[in-house]
Amino acid sequence: MLNIKDITVTVDGKEILKDFNLDIPDGEIHALMGPNGVGKSTICRSILKDPNYTINNGDISYNGKSLKDKTTTEIARLGIMMISQNPIAIEGVTNAEMLRIALSEKNGEHINIFEFQKELKGICQKLNVPESFLHRSINDGMSGGERKKNELIHIWMLKPSFLILDEIDSGLDVDALKEVANSLKEYHKMTNCSILIITHNPKLLNTLKPDKIHILKNKKITKTGGDEILSEIENEGFKKIS
Ligand SMILES: Nc1ncnc2c1ncn2[C@@H]1O[C@H](COP(=O)(O)OP(=O)(O)OP(=O)(O)O)[C@@H](O)[C@H]1O
Ligand SMILES: [Mg+2]
Repeated sequence: MLNIKDITVTVDGKEILKDFNLDIPDGEIHALMGPNGVGKSTICRSILKDPNYTINNGDISYNGKSLKDKTTTEIARLGIMMISQNPIAIEGVTNAEMLRIALSEKNGEHINIFEFQKELKGICQKLNVPESFLHRSINDGMSGGERKKNELIHIWMLKPSFLILDEIDSGLDVDALKEVANSLKEYHKMTNCSILIITHNPKLLNTLKPDKIHILKNKKITKTGGDEILSEIENEGFKKIS
């Protein structure tokens, strides 16, 4: 269970969120929607303790443990993983190297390299991604859509229990969007992980079927509901939704 209680977040001296609250129980999928620049990515980054985002009041806890004094690495070890809106490239570190080190850090045990490679290749096949991705530097030289699929490999290998997806659909063509949505659905079914998903695309939500959809406006959640909210957004736009 993730609890965000009464947080106020400032970025570069500007208040973006005020008295913001959100609870995501285990195994649930919650979507967060709202106009551009309203603070959706700010929430994701605040959970993971991006140093550019300052939490002035309130607290975020995961499974009853406050994240207040935890570092980003410690939070990742608790099983929280974020796929960023704009995944960065890391030159000189291959996907396979990063995943091997991350897995051994996470599980605290030696990795059997043959089993590791077999699992990685199986995931590439499942995701319809060329195996050559594994030996390329992380996201380096990859197109926007390829980066999103590459990050999906990381999800399947590292198996987070709480997944934050910040516009994972952006830059994906129609076929890739279906593949990514179906893969996320399968991952959720297999692991019963919790998901916080940020998107402007109702198609992704039609597949993932979130338990709740929240609208962020004026620094906090102003409305929570089911998929009836999607047609409201479509028909009215965010301006009229209160
Ligand atoms: N590192 C930063 N430095 C300065 N301002 C920032 C920084 N990060 C975010 N902001 C500002 O905070 C506000 C919220 O940004 P955020 O990225 O959270 O919006 P968003 O809801 O995710 O928008 P979008 O739908 O366009 O992705 C914006 O006005 C943005 O310019
Ligand atoms: Mg954003």
